[in-house]
Amino acid sequence: MLTLGIESSCDETAAAVVEDGRRVLASVIASQAARHGTWKGVVPEIAAREHVKAVLPVIRKALDDAGVTLADLGLIAVTREPGLVGALLVGVAAAEALSLATGTPVVGVNHIEAHIGAPWLADGNAPSYPLISLVVSGGHTHFFLSSGPCDHLLLGATLDDAAGEAFDKIAAVLGLGYPGGPAVEKAARAGNPDAFRFKRPLLDPKALDVSFSGLKTAVKYRCFEQDPDGRPLKDMRPGVRTEDVAASFQAAVVDTLVTKAALACALHRTPRIAIGGGVACNGPLREALLAKGKAAGFEVFLTPPKLCTDNAAMVASQGYFRFRERGPDTLPLVVRPRASWPRAGAVAQPLPHG
Ligand code: KG4
Ligand code: ZN
Repeated sequence: MLTLGIESSCDETAAAVVEDGRRVLASVIASQAARHGTWKGVVPEIAAREHVKAVLPVIRKALDDAGVTLADLGLIAVTREPGLVGALLVGVAAAEALSLATGTPVVGVNHIEAHIGAPWLADGNAPSYPLISLVVSGGHTHFFLSSGPCDHLLLGATLDDAAGEAFDKIAAVLGLGYPGGPAVEKAARAGNPDAFRFKRPLLDPKALDVSFSGLKTAVKYRCFEQDPDGRPLKDMRPGVRTEDVAASFQAAVVDTLVTKAALACALHRTPRIAIGGGVACNGPLREALLAKGKAAGFEVFLTPPKLCTDNAAMVASQGYFRFRERGPDTLPLVVRPRASWPRAGAVAQPLPHG
């Protein structure tokens, strides 16, 4: 069965055609990053307007690239939550219009659950459940215990900034541009990760919540000049190198995520973890997670880099499995700025390893 996926939750307008939930026939992404760079972050009003311009050409290109027509589709899957409401509405309106015109069923997809399934789009294999899922993106740093494509128990999350948001904020402080993740990773390659030992925000050592907002404050106070009242200024202290700050910050984020990932596997006696979302592109994070998995005895499933950031192939895939389990949604679809999941209660004691 062919599924058309549509994604418009943030600043990427994307469409994809996926066969039987795993084989990507076409994936088209129109990024608005350049339009938001001036503001160092996504401006919701601009995002919605850009989606309106891009959505139909992007869908048309995905169908053309796959060599199919609307009549060949068995399903339309569209991101309905979480995201910017004005942006989500554009993708949902397009999906509903196509469905009404062609009679093709529609499924509304949770964007975070779509990131969770992305590791299996590349090789076509099916995941083994249960598994720990870690989504690290611009808006989320969430650990789940997944028992199926649509069954995710929330184990822990960030209490403030998401990992990607922290990268974007540090990039802004260091003048590296937007989006910050790739820019910080690039600068960090020429830096010393041990130049500054920023505190690892591990919070409760037996729980899976994290916090990243303190890191930005630490960077500002440790690395920047201060006014007579002790407030950080715009200039870095003499001798401080941008590359060293980027590398030391990245090391703190990677250490935190890898420590919590290992803890999640141990606490829930689940020797496999999947990681997705934009921050999962980060090379040092991927390497550190693989190394920790090898040492502590858990298997790591990485999302291929081009499927880590927002795309519609993951939306089509998630929609397909949701449709198989629960059937189509009735129109109109309700969009939601936030999503919620059942939260795990008290956690077991960690196993001795890891
Ligand atoms: O999943 P995504 O494309 O959009 C959301 O759903 O939020 O993630 C975007 C986030 C941005 O914060 C971006 O800075 C971050 O992913 N990111 C990275 C890297 N590439 C993208 N963070 C660290 N290292 C990277 N290489
Ligand atoms: Zn995303």
